[in-house]
Amino acid sequence: MPDFVTPCLPIDPARPAPDVIARAAAILRAGGLVAFPTETVYGLGANALDEAAVGRIFVAKERATSDPLIVHLADAAELPRVAREAPPAALALAKVLWPGPLTLVLPRAAAVPANVSAGLDTVAVRVPSHPVARALIHAAGVPLAAPSANRFTRTSATTAAHVLADLDGRIDLVLDGGPADAGIESTVVAVEGSAVVVLRPGAVTAEALADAVHASGLDLRVEFAAASHRAASPGMMEKHYAPRARLTYVRGPREVARERLRALVGDAVAGGRTGVLVPSEDVPLFAALGARVEDLGPETEPETAAHRLYAALRALDAAGATAVFARQPGAGGIARALDDRLRRAASEVIEVA
Ligand code: TXA
Ligand code: MG
Repeated sequence: MPDFVTPCLPIDPARPAPDVIARAAAILRAGGLVAFPTETVYGLGANALDEAAVGRIFVAKERATSDPLIVHLADAAELPRVAREAPPAALALAKVLWPGPLTLVLPRAAAVPANVSAGLDTVAVRVPSHPVARALIHAAGVPLAAPSANRFTRTSATTAAHVLADLDGRIDLVLDGGPADAGIESTVVAVEGSAVVVLRPGAVTAEALADAVHASGLDLRVEFAAASHRAASPGMMEKHYAPRARLTYVRGPREVARERLRALVGDAVAGGRTGVLVPSEDVPLFAALGARVEDLGPETEPETAAHRLYAALRALDAAGATAVFARQPGAGGIARALDDRLRRAASEVIEVA
């Protein structure tokens, strides 16, 4: 048990109480760490302009110092505080998609300590839309470096309870604004030449990016970074977002993947505690096999699956599942981000056709 118990203060997600925000902001200004809700997942914030405070994030999370952080601003007008410059195309995208779950990789301003960006010459920046996040950044008066509020390589936190399960005693305060809305992290992009390159798929879909490009009258393609490109970027490591249990992930067309999943789960239940993540339609089938089933919502609603995914993985861990199985939740829209996270959380990926 930690010596220090991290206080957790409830806060109205729509109308955050100014006195609670003021208390959290004072901790941040003094170099402390505060976890807070955003529209994607919970973030672990520190003053992004304070090298020592940023260093504490890496210690609390046991995060590799090679994995760069995202800087959160209250308003796009603050960009010059953290970015040396911004391509007009990036600003145009920000104009459409901020505040919201879009993260832009831009040249890093000298005022931002190198440890924020793991030594890179760039900095990742976003303006969150969650009222608590916005009020907190505004009250702190400084940009906030904030990774997801979980232990390094593990499942991101979408509730205050998840944050405490990983970080109690290691951080100064948690603001509990209820479950995070999207449930999956922001989309990280870089504008490179005539392309918007998606470095990490996330809550802003490729379709939404294409719409924003169109709405801004820009002539840019939206493309996903190749695996090689991503491997070259720090923090894009393959093993990430992982539960404690061994996750087997089946990719491929729905019917074939479901059949393979059924065979795998059928074999596994004899050997130990088996968990499975499936759409609502498949719940009876897998429950009948004797597996512990987490319902990701209707097959046609990948947004619901995104909202539930990390909590479902944590619930299976808490239930003591040692082997967990999931299948691909579709291909387009937000399902792209789900597929990315499941692939990286998995110990084994099985491709079926
Ligand atoms: O939704 C989110 O983005 C959440 C909330 C709290 O805002 N934050 C989040 O942060 O997911 P984190 O630390 O878990 O993920 C940050 C990732 C890095 O692992 C890396 O993939 C990318 O953002 N990133 C950060 N800085 C970068 C840079 N300079 N160049 C390329 N990628 C970068
Ligand atoms: Mg993270």
